[in-house]
Amino acid sequence: MAYSGPFQPGDRVQLTDPKRRHHTIVVQPGGIFHTNKGQIAHDDIIGADEGSVVRSTLGTEYLCFRHLMVDHVLSMPRGAAVIYPKDSAQILVEGDIFPGARVLEAGAGSGALSMSLLRAIGDQGTLFSYEIRQDHLDYACANVDEFFGGRPQNWQPRLGDLHDVTVADLGGRVDRVILDMLEPWECLKVSADILIPGGVFMTYVATVPQLMKVMEGIREQRCFTEPRAWESLVREWRVEGLATRPEHRMNAHTAFLVMARRLADGVTPPRPQRKARR
Ligand SMILES: C[S@@+](CC[C@H](N)C(=O)[O-])C[C@H]1O[C@@H](n2cnc3c(N)ncnc32)[C@H](O)[C@@H]1O
Repeated sequence: MAYSGPFQPGDRVQLTDPKRRHHTIVVQPGGIFHTNKGQIAHDDIIGADEGSVVRSTLGTEYLCFRHLMVDHVLSMPRGAAVIYPKDSAQILVEGDIFPGARVLEAGAGSGALSMSLLRAIGDQGTLFSYEIRQDHLDYACANVDEFFGGRPQNWQPRLGDLHDVTVADLGGRVDRVILDMLEPWECLKVSADILIPGGVFMTYVATVPQLMKVMEGIREQRCFTEPRAWESLVREWRVEGLATRPEHRMNAHTAFLVMARRLADGVTPPRPQRKARR
């Protein structure tokens, strides 16, 4: 699938009308998009540059762009809640997802994080996406395949419980483990077993009790560095002359992020670990 250049048959194109409403179509030669503002011939879009304007038969103008990954993630069908783009961005940078990395994620859910990880690891990397529910795995596969225009060769979506995964299943240890599941503390032992020394462990949890439990669990494993926890808040601004101000609404809380690094085998954490206050 093309990510740049003039529109080609098969491209997913986002049309924006004068009221800033989005309509997404897949352009095909001879195709027609019907709106209550008239019709648009796909052939008027194919061959045009991104950012072009097409006019419907009733004269309404539509701005044409390809879908960005964020547009796809926020509009695609979901089986499970997705990781929001602001948090995926944190995972890519704080989790140091590099080209060629071997990464394991669980659960795959709707495939939102999978897409960001697949891009970041590039063709030389491998992403193992474990999902315990067949229906959720189906969503993940459909969403990822649709975005990339086919099954990425660096992706291994697998139906299964992370508890049961072994190094042999993965053909060796992985560089990064990223968990987005209800009870990540149940999978800390397996995460430690499959991570290389120095590897990054990250998890994404929505509530304070989950955060407390996973932080304590990581400390109890005694094979990780002291875990860090944080959240990211993104607030948009309306910039209109003297009326410039923050937007009234924001997605204030999505989830907390937790990160720790795997120590070398046989090493215990060098610093005293903080005890939970009861
Ligand atoms: C919130 S969703 C993940 C969403 C995903 N990160 C995304 O961005 O689309 C959590 C998923 O974890 C799966 N899950 C829970 N426990 C699991 C386990 N032990 N092994 C594999 N998948 C698991 C659930 O079935 C669910 O689909």
